[in-house]
Amino acid sequence: MSPKAEPRDPHSGAAVYLRLLGYMRPDIMVLVAGFVGFLIYAACDSAFAWWMKELVDSIQDGISDRRYELSALIIGIFLARGVGGIVGGYCTEYVARKVINRLRGEMFDHILRLPCTFYEQYSSGSVLAKLIFNVENVAAASTNALRIIVRGGFTVIGLLAFMFYINWKLSSLFIIITPIMALVIAMVTRRFRRLSQRIQQTMGNVSERAGDVLKGYEVVKIFDGYGHEEAAFDKVIHNDRRLRLKLVLLNDASTTLVQLLFALALSALILIAMQPEILSSMSAGEFVSFVTAAGFISRPILQLTQVNAIIQQGVAAADSIFTVLDLPREKDLGTRMLEDCQGEITFQDVRFRYGDASKQDRQWIIDGVNFHIPAGSTCALVGRSGSGKTTLARLVARFHEPERGAVLVDGVPLPELRIESLRQNIALVNQNISLFNASIAENIAYGAMRDAPREEIIAAAEHAQVMEFARELPQGLDTQIGEAGITLSGGQRQRIAIARAFLKNAPILILDEATSALDNHSERLIQKALEDLMANRTSLIIAHRLSTVEGADRIVVLDQGRIIESGTHEELLALGGHYTAMYEQSDAE
Ligand SMILES: Nc1ncnc2c1ncn2[C@@H]1O[C@H](COP(=O)(O)OP(=O)(O)OP(=O)(O)O)[C@@H](O)[C@H]1O
Ligand SMILES: [Mg+2]
Repeated sequence: MSPKAEPRDPHSGAAVYLRLLGYMRPDIMVLVAGFVGFLIYAACDSAFAWWMKELVDSIQDGISDRRYELSALIIGIFLARGVGGIVGGYCTEYVARKVINRLRGEMFDHILRLPCTFYEQYSSGSVLAKLIFNVENVAAASTNALRIIVRGGFTVIGLLAFMFYINWKLSSLFIIITPIMALVIAMVTRRFRRLSQRIQQTMGNVSERAGDVLKGYEVVKIFDGYGHEEAAFDKVIHNDRRLRLKLVLLNDASTTLVQLLFALALSALILIAMQPEILSSMSAGEFVSFVTAAGFISRPILQLTQVNAIIQQGVAAADSIFTVLDLPREKDLGTRMLEDCQGEITFQDVRFRYGDASKQDRQWIIDGVNFHIPAGSTCALVGRSGSGKTTLARLVARFHEPERGAVLVDGVPLPELRIESLRQNIALVNQNISLFNASIAENIAYGAMRDAPREEIIAAAEHAQVMEFARELPQGLDTQIGEAGITLSGGQRQRIAIARAFLKNAPILILDEATSALDNHSERLIQKALEDLMANRTSLIIAHRLSTVEGADRIVVLDQGRIIESGTHEELLALGGHYTAMYEQSDAE
């Protein structure tokens, strides 16, 4: 829904601001209503200057009859001004909040759909800072600035018109200073933008550092990381403070400069206006109202000079948000659906490496892997830590694309499949269990499974031995488990993840060290359930504890991204190679 104008430089201030204004388009009528409010507000300022003229002239001419009219008028003027101000303020704030929600919503949606490399590159802290802090700044730019521009602009125009009406020569003199003001503003603009960009960055650093410590509090406590963390955090917030102070100083200094220019103009004006020949050409009322208008005009002009700071901050924030919004989403160009998926998986000369494609000296993590997992069979991946097992499994779920070769499911290369269709057919238990801040039942019936019947959730929980500990909990399966399941033990978390896979009941099952945290007793119980689960589907099992994979139809030994041995447990033992060595070692433990 973001309108994408294509100017030459999409990061130029004007381009970013225009794009931002596009987010207000749906509420254009509310914005117009707000502008009308401000128009009334501004007109009242001029009306007040006019009222001054009438008042002074009436006093001088001794027309006491106008007292009712004038006293009623002043109430009317301020009432209208108040109503106009409220309508304008409310409407622009309304639009601002809409813009914030639109941006947040769009950004959240977009972040969810970015390729895995995004999550590896950006820290969660910096992304959160964008979502929380930058978006607010953007709203300030988009509407607060607009409010000042519109309200101030109308006021200035109204008052100027009034001044010209009273005495155009004096007024022309007065507006000679405007180009000088514009020059001052132009000079500070660029500096503002750069400072603002750096502030966005430091906000990211603040939440990044804090987030790290919140996750790793145990390590901080045991390894006495207090001093180090405090120092690092201090540095970040110190930097933030320094930049913000600079910004304030720059803002105030430029405002003062403009103010001074203004005072100079006003003093010159008085000098000229009070010359006898000019003074005699104006009535007292005209003179007083002229000076009143000239005095009134200073406030909106000042605000208009400050608006630049707000806009620059907003533009810097918006730019960093748009940069994320412009990141390409996960490529999903496939059109074919996996209907009645059998789960046959083939790796054809697959090569893969992590990192930025522009860097050539990266190491191959998967280095020419060829093998075939027939539909319905169980294949185990074993090998040293870091040999590429998890990476290989991730390629099946298309979390990454191989650089060379292809991965096929049911004979179809993955890029030809709709990602959604592929993932619907895969149940996965990660090496790093991901749980959400919700109940056990909600964690098991996550996502598309959220409407699963209660009996099925319970059955899955039974198979995965979740019931064994859930029964003891006060609310059973409905117990809340805290952020990332913090209130559960490692083994309990794993069992919930396994229950999730049971419930999904997909044709392809990937278990990455799924039972590594379990005691022998629970593992044996789950193993039995898992074997039943694996019986009629294709399974890719990764395990260090070799006893858990002995029964696999085929065991593949991986080393530095290459297959070095493969066969059944018996065949590999007969071979007397790497697997045998690993097996004997694990036996000895
Ligand atoms: N996101 C990543 N970015 C860059 N390199 C990575 C990334 N994830 C893994 N690697 C590297 O890829 C290699 C293989 O990692 P992988 O996780 O596939 O190993 P593994 O066989 O699953 O190991 P383990 O048994 O310890 O789980 C490792 O050398 C690791 O450093
Ligand atoms: Mg792994």
